[in-house]
Amino acid sequence: MGNKTLSLRPAVRLLLGAVSAAALLAAAPAHAQEPVQPIEVPKNVNPAKVELGKKLWFDPRLSRSGFISCNSCHNLSMGGSDNLKTSIGHNWQKGPINSPTVLNSSLNMAQFWDGRAKDLREQAGGPIANPGEMAFTHDLAVDMLRSIPQYVAEFQKVFGTDKLTIDEVTSAIAAFEETLVTPNARFDKWLKGDKQAINQQELRGYELFKNSGCVACHNGPNLGGTSFQKMGLVEPYKTDNPAEGRFAVTGNDAERFNFKVPTLRNVELTYPYFHDGAADTLAQAVDTMGRIQLGRTFTKQENADIVAFLKTLTGEQPEIMLPILPPSSDRTPRPQPFDD
Ligand code: HEC
Ligand code: HEC
Repeated sequence: MGNKTLSLRPAVRLLLGAVSAAALLAAAPAHAQEPVQPIEVPKNVNPAKVELGKKLWFDPRLSRSGFISCNSCHNLSMGGSDNLKTSIGHNWQKGPINSPTVLNSSLNMAQFWDGRAKDLREQAGGPIANPGEMAFTHDLAVDMLRSIPQYVAEFQKVFGTDKLTIDEVTSAIAAFEETLVTPNARFDKWLKGDKQAINQQELRGYELFKNSGCVACHNGPNLGGTSFQKMGLVEPYKTDNPAEGRFAVTGNDAERFNFKVPTLRNVELTYPYFHDGAADTLAQAVDTMGRIQLGRTFTKQENADIVAFLKTLTGEQPEIMLPILPPSSDRTPRPQPFDD
């Protein structure tokens, strides 16, 4: 008897296995098999904190000049970037690297091209104190905010203390940035089962994007942001830009010229491309990627198909009501736009 039950077991297990697999398939969303997932809208946002973060995001008084805000280089009217090869900082300084979009950056495993900041909070302290960007200091930024009674009251309301620290500043900015996601791109609608959401050419482009190997690096909901990869895997990438990528963070020679794989969400809006901003158009970027990452030269038609697919990744842009910033008080330090 014991033997009989034993011998039945594998069959039962097989059957159960088949049933649960079928149940899973029925319940699984249409995109379960795809290397790319739709963008989800963040839950549990703290509206007061987001609103404060939005003010700080747009406030140029966080810079020495009183002229440069986060939005100067990550313009939310232009896909969260500045559309320049490299950014312009304090005193019209030429920036060292292309400004990546802030849209969906909360989905990246780390921040910056070389991933040197682990998250948005850590990142947000950087530009304020960077002499080539906002050229301020954390102490001066906090002093400035403390001199403005409306800010003091708002920080108190959000954080429940009247300390007003740089950690609160970066935490509020990060909370705002977490809301900068772009759901419901046409491609996401397709992923969720609306087969009419993209056309034949765009679908061909997606198939090529998958089958030629782009998804090895550009995957997940952000089509990027999940790994650091060599720029020029198959063929070296030529550039005058001195950035060394991940090597600058780890000192590991094997990671020289490894960069965080950038998101391809909204890539139609975030030209020019690559860390040095060298590719002006999507056609150029796709051509370069094919050759140096995959050793493949796309035909004109193939290139156009992939570009058409990439344009289906433009999502609903955050709808932003411009904040009215609290006025400076008599005590607020005055801007210093020029060094003379
Ligand atoms: C002068 C232009 C400039 C200003 C001002 C500026 N940024 Fe940036 N930002 C950049 C550049 C350039 C990079 C890329 C730097 C790098 O990777 O080394 C960057 C990177 C980032 C990233 C990383 C995105 C990613 O996917 O890696 C975030 C997030 C960000 N900035 C947010 C902010 C916030 C918040 C502020 C305001 C406190 C700000 N930036 C101000 C130019 C600027
Ligand atoms: C081996 C990994 C890898 C593969 C494969 C790959 N990419 Fe990339 N891709 C990257 C990295 C890394 C960057 C950023 C490089 C830099 O700027 O130095 C990038 C950048 C891009 C950019 C520019 C994005 C921006 O905002 O600057 C586009 C567009 C792009 N890739 C498309 C593609 C396409 C299309 C394919 C397939 C033909 C592909 N990639 C294959 C790793 C990869």
